[in-house]
Amino acid sequence: MTARLHLVDQRTEAMPAILDVAALSKQFSTNGINPVVVLQDIRFSARRGEMICFLGRSGCGKSTLLKILAGFIPPSSGSVQLNGRPVGRPGPDRCVVFQEDALFPWLTVKENIAFGLKGRKLSRREREREVDRFVSLVGLDGFADYLPQAISGGMKQRVSLARVLILQPEVLLMDEPFAALDAQTREEMQNLLLDLWKEFSHTVLFVTHDVNEAVLLADRIILMEKAPGRIREDITIKLPRPRKKDSAPFFNQCRVMMAKINQV
Ligand SMILES: Nc1ncnc2c1ncn2[C@@H]1O[C@H](COP(=O)(O)OP(=O)(O)OP(=O)(O)O)[C@@H](O)[C@H]1O
Ligand SMILES: [Mg+2]
Repeated sequence: MTARLHLVDQRTEAMPAILDVAALSKQFSTNGINPVVVLQDIRFSARRGEMICFLGRSGCGKSTLLKILAGFIPPSSGSVQLNGRPVGRPGPDRCVVFQEDALFPWLTVKENIAFGLKGRKLSRREREREVDRFVSLVGLDGFADYLPQAISGGMKQRVSLARVLILQPEVLLMDEPFAALDAQTREEMQNLLLDLWKEFSHTVLFVTHDVNEAVLLADRIILMEKAPGRIREDITIKLPRPRKKDSAPFFNQCRVMMAKINQV
């Protein structure tokens, strides 16, 4: 397993950038007079298959950045390009998982996961096979016919992951997806995400304010500062995978990151 993950790291380093964010800024004007600059001159690239965590204090603009990348809101200036093309509206190449689940409460687990496939030209059989595969991949065998109200928070986030991964997005955008879960469930979800990432090699941009979570997951941590939201530092995490939270190197890396975040 270590060897396989090492291969993933090597391959990622050799990959060209697929996502390019250049000179991106965002300002909001609440009263129409005094615009507030929320993001200023954000620049970074992401390679195919890279896992990047955005770490920063509350209000530094992490969610705003993700919303712009998803195409939910436009930037005030600057550009976002995916595979050399400007990103405009939301699209299945960039899917988002939020902290709160966004499942349709009237649809079952299976129906929620199948929902995004509606526009695809698949036979009923192919669709069913694909949905079953993703139900299994996220560990929900036996729960396919449950409604969201009858499953736990962790299971809902498993459904949220499956319903976006089934669309095979190039970039997976995750906004504190596990923040509302208890510690143990959170750890299970982090491991599930790492397993799925190994399987699908999509590019993941993951927002968190949990240093441990960022160090566990990230190839790179982009540390953000506040007012206005800017990139303070782009740090490559070289810890070998799989990472052990109780190991000295992991602990040391977290300490280094804590010191950095305390300065912003
Ligand atoms: N639609 C909006 N109109 C006006 N101001 C906004 C809007 N959306 C966000 N903001 C402001 O932009 C700033 C950044 O908000 P954002 O939600 O991106 O921060 P965040 O880093 O995700 O914070 P948290 O860690 O608490 O989720 C905040 O000051 C917020 O009040
Ligand atoms: Mg946020």
